[in-house]
Amino acid sequence: MKILAIESSCDDTSVALLDCTEEGLLVIAQKTASQIDVHKKYGGVVPEIAGRKHAEAILPVIEEVMNNQEKPDLIAVTSGPGLITGLLVGVEVAKGLSYLWDIPVIGVNHIEGHIYSVLLEEIGSRTAKEIVFPAVCLIASGGHTELLLMKDHGQYELIGKTRDDASGEAFDKVAKLLGMEYPGGPQIANMAKKGKSNAIDFPRPMIDSNDFDFSFAGLKTAVLYYLRDNPKYTKEDVCASFEQAVVDVLTHKTIKATKKYNAKTIILGGGVSNNEKLRSTLENFSEESGLHFLKPNKAYTMDNAGMIGASAYFHAKNNNFTDWKDLIADPNWKVYQQ
Ligand code: KG4
Ligand code: ZN
Repeated sequence: MKILAIESSCDDTSVALLDCTEEGLLVIAQKTASQIDVHKKYGGVVPEIAGRKHAEAILPVIEEVMNNQEKPDLIAVTSGPGLITGLLVGVEVAKGLSYLWDIPVIGVNHIEGHIYSVLLEEIGSRTAKEIVFPAVCLIASGGHTELLLMKDHGQYELIGKTRDDASGEAFDKVAKLLGMEYPGGPQIANMAKKGKSNAIDFPRPMIDSNDFDFSFAGLKTAVLYYLRDNPKYTKEDVCASFEQAVVDVLTHKTIKATKKYNAKTIILGGGVSNNEKLRSTLENFSEESGLHFLKPNKAYTMDNAGMIGASAYFHAKNNNFTDWKDLIADPNWKVYQQ
């Protein structure tokens, strides 16, 4: 099944062409037009600008990915959650193509996309990875930090979520305090490599709470006060100690959840899954505990269309299509049942 997938929920216009069969998933091509340079000067994504940039980029990117290939069997598009200005562009283009080509369309949840990103191999390679259920999924990005219990394909329960800032947002805000550009996660992670992770004892908010929720706003404030009170601080040590605090909280709660729910698999997804310390901590725990660990290939850690196509394939197998007339952009769509 050939799937043309579109992702435009935040600041990346991403399009991918996949060939999905029982033998595995193959991303034939994936192109992403990033808007990071445009939003950088504002320190975050400006919705109005994002919508315009998606509208400008989307058809040229589709043309580049299709590269005179035959029309696909299915269109997949992120229809929520995300910025309404971006979602609308992707959804309306997907509806138009579905109508014109007379092929079905599937609206995919962005968070579910991050989960399925772990089933993809680098662009051009086919792979047949499987999820052994139940799985505990940690989705950590600039907009989300959620722990989900996945009992089967398409079945999610919320275990915990952030009560304030997302973990990626905390990285971005601390980076801003240190005078680094948006998005700050990769820069903090880089600088952290040269610092001592136990140099500063930053708080681990909610680490001992009886639930699986997170909170990162207080940690960011703790960094702010530390910088104010220690003007001769070592940037590398601040980055390493902050990164360690975030990783400790994320991994502590994820590990606790695998025990409570007898999980067989840990799935890590979202932009923060780029973080080497987070990856290796969960990988080591999984190895020691005999759990499967699935993390995205680096081509699919940030927002990308490949993951949306992968997710749509499993919906298509269950004949779970969306009539193009019923497809709507829903900025608040929850992947789990409420
Ligand atoms: O999934 P994503 O591309 O977009 C959202 O849906 O938000 O995630 C982007 C987020 C940003 O906050 C960025 O700072 C963070 O992922 N990020 C990282 C790293 N690479 C990206 N955070 C920590 N360490 C990294 N290496
Ligand atoms: Zn995302």
